[in-house]
Amino acid sequence: MKKFALAATLCFAAAATTAQADCTAVTVEDQFDLDEAAINVLYDCLRDKMAEGYAKAGHEVGSTYRDWAITATRPAVEGSHGNRLLLTFANDVAAEQYLKFEDEGVNMPIGSVLAKESITVSIKKKKARVGPLFIMTKVGLDEAPDTDGWLYDGVQPNGKKMKFKQSFCHNCHSGWSDSDFLAYPVEEVRVSSE
Ligand code: HEC
Repeated sequence: MKKFALAATLCFAAAATTAQADCTAVTVEDQFDLDEAAINVLYDCLRDKMAEGYAKAGHEVGSTYRDWAITATRPAVEGSHGNRLLLTFANDVAAEQYLKFEDEGVNMPIGSVLAKESITVSIKKKKARVGPLFIMTKVGLDEAPDTDGWLYDGVQPNGKKMKFKQSFCHNCHSGWSDSDFLAYPVEEVRVSSE
């Protein structure tokens, strides 16, 4: 009887572990091969944990961005932010202009904030986990003369602030000077502003 109970317990534990592993499991050989359905499974699996983590240490953006305008229909892999699935939210100040996804003559209003969730996909470990929340805030040239008026910030999955040089982010974002240094989500997932 005792033996049976033990076996049942072990069995249950194994099943629980499998269920947990399954929803973050990655079976593809390349992150660009993840299809819409697979991405949605990963996002559904991690979305609550993700928002709780970013808010954990009280970071202002990390605690509020989920109420903002969503700019894509689902997370997508672009490539520049590593092997990550990305999903950007725009605050009230930014949303109208950002959602036009214009390529030229863009000048985002001061106070614009973009917050981008990420899911890190490890092909080697065959697993996905929450990645950092990447943030850009338009503060204007007086406050951020070296980065064309933008401040870069980041929140780790445990809620702590990320440490990095502003130039690390801006050196790459400076490639999009015509769209006020915004690179936008990949075209196939952009929401229309209509
Ligand atoms: C190697 C190039 C590169 C680097 C370095 C980089 N980014 Fe980006 N970033 C991109 C691209 C490309 C996109 C658009 C792709 C997407 O969101 O799907 C983007 C999008 C963003 C967005 C959404 C707003 C937008 O541009 O549409 C934020 C916020 C952001 N990055 C923050 C950061 C922060 C913070 C850092 C530094 C820690 C950083 N980025 C470093 C290339 C880069």
